[in-house]
Formats: sequence, structure tokens, C-alpha cells
Amino acid sequence: MDLRAMRLQMLKRVLCPPEVCVGKGSVERLACLEPARVLVVTGGSARRNGAIERVTAQLKDATAHEVMELPSGEPRATAIAAARETVAAFAPEWIVALGGGAVLDAAKFVWAQLEYPDLVLSGKAAAIGPLRRKARLIAVPTTSGSGSEASQAAVLAADDGTKVPYVSPHWVPDIAILDPVLTVSLPREITVATGFDALTHAVESAVSSLGNPFLRVLAATAVGLVLRHLPVAAENPQDLTARSGMLEAAFLAGLCQSMASTGAAHALSHATSKLHGAPHGAATGFYLLPTMRWNRRKNAAVYDELAAGCGLASGAALEAALLDFGVRVGLPQKFADMVGRVPDTAERQILAETAAKDICLRTNACRLGAPELAQLLAEIG
Ligand SMILES: [Fe+2]
Repeated sequence: MDLRAMRLQMLKRVLCPPEVCVGKGSVERLACLEPARVLVVTGGSARRNGAIERVTAQLKDATAHEVMELPSGEPRATAIAAARETVAAFAPEWIVALGGGAVLDAAKFVWAQLEYPDLVLSGKAAAIGPLRRKARLIAVPTTSGSGSEASQAAVLAADDGTKVPYVSPHWVPDIAILDPVLTVSLPREITVATGFDALTHAVESAVSSLGNPFLRVLAATAVGLVLRHLPVAAENPQDLTARSGMLEAAFLAGLCQSMASTGAAHALSHATSKLHGAPHGAATGFYLLPTMRWNRRKNAAVYDELAAGCGLASGAALEAALLDFGVRVGLPQKFADMVGRVPDTAERQILAETAAKDICLRTNACRLGAPELAQLLAEIG
């Protein structure tokens, strides 16, 4: 990486998609594109729930459009490489990423590979240079969690299951479309888990060592939106106001995470997903409160500003509200609920050591390493 790129990466910056379309029917924005070659990158769930039809119905005036369905799960280097020739042959001018966070991330890698045909993705994060020489990106999320539609980040799963975060300011989408109609078929369990992922992005980035005043305002708004809309979205999946509120929350939290990364809950979640197969959203939500308790023990006022932004008296009140909220919406409260059993002491040690190597831990509100993480895990029981 050259010095100019390094300097840019170290700057505190507010990066945001230049166009964000919000609300029921916003998918119609796709019908207003100038005639162009459009590649829809998506996953199996978008086919099953009809999202692909809703999107392709808007592309009648495109010069040409194709749908590329990627394997389910986190993006893998082999799957991205397998798409190389097909994507190059179609030569899209727009890439529409349609799906959950993993699909949106995968589309970013497909895009980078189109622009840099010699790009080799591996288990080690590398710089992604300027894009948009061949195509531009539209992100259309069908879940409300990862915030990839707002973000400069994408996660690649290495062959051993390690999540490798790549970051490039060029990956911030040109257009984000937040249409709640595309999320109404999301099952309750995934609605709750992805909602807690968004909540955790907001809470962790608000107290991140890379935080800034802009994101703290956005984070408080995102937390308020989740508290208000997630219970309704979970109980009444067709409620478009609640679904819209959750898309807005995930987008804002994605902006925050994109600016300041996250913290210990994400580091532990990544380790638990790798070692015990826990879903990302449920695991981040599970670890949110124990890590908040730990951070508050080190700095009693650490969440006070975020709490005030949410209309609560203190960080302690925010913690209590989130505990009550998690129980109410059915978030796993015990290890056994999340991974089927309680890890023994040796497994907890491995979890702690794995999490200690995760890059998300570097921006946690207080410094902690493997010994502290092991103690934190022991306290969860
Ligand atoms: Fe996350």
C-alpha cells in the first residue's frame, strides 16, 4: 500500500453512499437507471422469497441483465474465483447486490475481481484499489443486520472458517435501496439475530477507540430504532413500518461500524462462529451485554453519552433496557441456547485466544487480551 492510501485509511472520515432510497417501493429506483448492462448478484433465499422477481421486474429497460446466484453462507475465495470468467464475459456496468450481508459482501468481492482480473483473494486481507472503471454498485439488502449496504467493509471466510475483514473506501455502494417489502419474508429467528447484529454495531462503534461525534449521533438513533421496531418486526413480519425502521437502523449502524469498527462482542462472536458454528447475529447479540458489563466496570461512564442519546439516564439504564429487551424478543441468554452446550474450561481458553487475535478487539472501548477474555467467558458460565 502506498503512503497516500495509508494516510487515507488512518483518517477519521465519514463515508456514506451518495444516494440512499428509503421506504416501500424504493426498489423502483432500479427502473430509472440509464440503459446499461446489469448483473444481479444474489443468493438462494432471494429466489425463494421472490426478491429476484421484484428486482428483475424493474430492469426491463436495461440493455441486458443477468442473475448470478452464489452459494449460501459467508463468501469464500473459491466461489468468488469461480464467478470470474462469467462476470468478465457479461461485462456489467452496474452490479446489483441483492440479499443478506453475506451476499452483499460477496458482490463486493465479485466487483473487485471484475475491476482487477488478477486479484487473488486469500486468508489475508489486502488493499482494494479504486473501482468504478468498469462497473458501479447498488446494494439492496433483504435483511436488516450487517449494514454492508452502507459500509466500506466486506468479510471473506478463509478455508479454516476464520473471518477475514477487508476494508476499502471504494466499496461504499453508489446507491443503497432500503425497501421493506423485500424483508417481510424473513423468519422471526433471523429477524431477531440480524437485528441484534445491527444493535451491536451501533453500541460497539459508539464507544470504539476510533469513534467520532458524527457516528455517536447516528448510533444513538440506530439503537432507538431497534428498540422501537425489532419487537414489532419479530411478531408481525408484514408490518412495513417496523421493517422499514429496522432497515434504517441497520443502515445507520452499518455507517457507524464502517467508520469505527466494533469491539469485543464481535471478536468473541467471530471466534464462536468459527469454533462452534454459532450464527453471527445471535452470537454478537449474546456477547453484547457481558462485554458492556466488562467495559463499564473499567469505565463506569463509557455508555452514558450513548444512553443519553437514546433518552436513558445512564449507561447502567441502557444495559438494563437491553437485558430486558433481549429476553423479550427471545435472544439466546445462555451458551447452551446458542451453541447447544456449555464450553468447558479448555474450550473457553481456545475461544479467548482466538478472539484475542481478532482485529475487532483492537477498537474495543477498553483494552483486553486473552486472559481478560477468558475471565469474561468464565463469568458468563
Ligand atoms: Fe456484525
